[in-house]
Amino acid sequence: MTETLLEVKNLHKTFDHAEVLKGVSLSVMPGEVVAIVGPSGAGKTTLLRCLNMLERADAGELVFDGEHYDPAGFGRREASKLHKKTGFVFQDYNLFANKTAMENVTLGLTSGRGMNRHKAEEIAAEMLRKVGMEEKSDRFPLHLSGGQQQRVAIARALAADPKIIYFDEPTSALDPELTGEVLEVIRKLKDSGITMMIVTHELSFARDVSTRMIFMEEGSIIEEGNTREFFADPKNERTRAFIGMNVDGTEKEEQ
Ligand SMILES: Nc1ncnc2c1ncn2[C@@H]1O[C@H](COP(=O)(O)OP(=O)(O)OP(=O)(O)O)[C@@H](O)[C@H]1O
Ligand SMILES: [Mg+2]
Repeated sequence: MTETLLEVKNLHKTFDHAEVLKGVSLSVMPGEVVAIVGPSGAGKTTLLRCLNMLERADAGELVFDGEHYDPAGFGRREASKLHKKTGFVFQDYNLFANKTAMENVTLGLTSGRGMNRHKAEEIAAEMLRKVGMEEKSDRFPLHLSGGQQQRVAIARALAADPKIIYFDEPTSALDPELTGEVLEVIRKLKDSGITMMIVTHELSFARDVSTRMIFMEEGSIIEEGNTREFFADPKNERTRAFIGMNVDGTEKEEQ
């Protein structure tokens, strides 16, 4: 039997008296690509950040790769233990402006893990090739387009050989003409079998790339299921309304 990679139970988070996560539970098996969709303010980013312990939850249980973590009370050491096994791709890339593409990718390997520089550069070169950025490895972020910066950020996440990569709206800061190249890279990653959890508002992309869908609204998971069934026969009225509204919009935008 395959082990569950990620299991979270009853995750709660409140900001300024507003309950943003109202007891969220979910689990992810290795190799799954889970897309999370839902209206603005639903708590999608907060969920992803709590799962990767970038944000402290108020309560909940987290098991990742067979080990227990405390999503509410973790310290720096516990977080960094988790971060050795996970990657996170942010909406706004989060690259170091004063480092080249290559240095952005090697940094986590050399100072994060004590790998020697030569080996780190070898791995970084391979990851930059995977995302089609090998020829721009000596450029600084300022001299790269948003799509190229995001591809470097994906190479950085990949370099650590993570068990899962979380993506928080990886294309929402991009001009429409640059969105495709980033989505294409993520599609290719799916073929390599890596587990991913992707928050996106691109419903047609979610349908295309994910194996499972989660629809969130007001801090709760309203519906989840196998991607094909989720789109073909959504059970919840709110899911139906959301898909109806957004798939039409997304498809029109892409034409
Ligand atoms: N650091 C914070 N401090 C206070 N409130 C916050 C903070 N982060 C998020 N919130 C609030 O929590 C709620 C959920 O935010 P979150 O960013 O998780 O939603 P989202 O589903 O990712 O939305 P979007 O689609 O717009 O990115 C919102 O009402 C937001 O204003
Ligand atoms: Mg968000």
